[in-house]
Amino acid sequence: MSTILRTPDAIKSEVQNRYARVADENLQIAVAASCCGPDSGAQGGDSCCSPSDSSSCGSPLYLGEDLTDLPQAAVASSRGCGNPQAIAALKTGEVVLDLGSGGGLDVLLAARQVGPTGFVYGVDMTDKMLELARTNAAKIGAANVEFRKGELESLPLADDTVDVIISNCVVNLSPEKENALSEAYRVLKPGGRLAISDIVVDGDLSGFPVSEAQIRAGLSWAGCIAGALTIDEFTGLLTAASFSEIDIEIQHRYNLDDFLGDLPVELSSLQPAVVEKLVGRFTSSAIRAKK
Ligand SMILES: C[S@@+](CC[C@H](N)C(=O)[O-])C[C@H]1O[C@@H](n2cnc3c(N)ncnc32)[C@H](O)[C@@H]1O
Repeated sequence: MSTILRTPDAIKSEVQNRYARVADENLQIAVAASCCGPDSGAQGGDSCCSPSDSSSCGSPLYLGEDLTDLPQAAVASSRGCGNPQAIAALKTGEVVLDLGSGGGLDVLLAARQVGPTGFVYGVDMTDKMLELARTNAAKIGAANVEFRKGELESLPLADDTVDVIISNCVVNLSPEKENALSEAYRVLKPGGRLAISDIVVDGDLSGFPVSEAQIRAGLSWAGCIAGALTIDEFTGLLTAASFSEIDIEIQHRYNLDDFLGDLPVELSSLQPAVVEKLVGRFTSSAIRAKK
């Protein structure tokens, strides 16, 4: 990513404000609402339990049955762009860390997969999101989870303690990705693995009538787009952080429908075909690597 347009603190503050608002909206339903399930009339995929609303970061790929018995507020507050569980192949007894755990949906899904002998940590920098995640975990009596306040760039976990790191559309939000990926490497056990979903640029943002700087300026950091790395940049940062067996798999290529109504003014003067091509460079991808 060639242009950082604002200071890291300004970017983090914008991100925190946006996610605090999402948490606030959902804290009210966290207390009142029940869980998603066959009898609640609120299966994943309907308006109550679907995580993919217009303010999400993309297209989470959860199956309705995965969301059964999870708190509605965990599902409704989800702002991911993929399904880390689907790519992480979690096993019973593993210790998992979710980077940017939000309202806790991915932590609670992972907790089911690793079972009572496993454990899942969620780390998030936004107080309201931590409150929401803890409320959601308490609602279903999840005993094998813990939510810690912290930043990706300085993780509140000891060296070599985690089997698997998952994350759902958060690395792109970090203004200091090199530090975030070095920290991920530090806390993984030797042989541990990274399996995250994120928005990644396929190719680069050249060849358009507007510059990369203008494109990134127009796109919001908090909306997961402006800070997206290219595949080459992501591979380079993972290599620099000492990861091996790096694999980036495109799972969804964005199109105009994904962005409709949300196009920044900088891009609105472009021909629709050009915008379509530009938007198509952004993908939701699975990023896997090993320590
Ligand atoms: C896209 S949501 C995460 C989705 C979440 N996994 C779920 O299940 O809903 C983004 C979350 O990442 C957190 N976040 C963003 N940047 C962060 C950073 N640098 N350090 C810690 N948390 C961060 C935000 O506070 C927000 O709660």
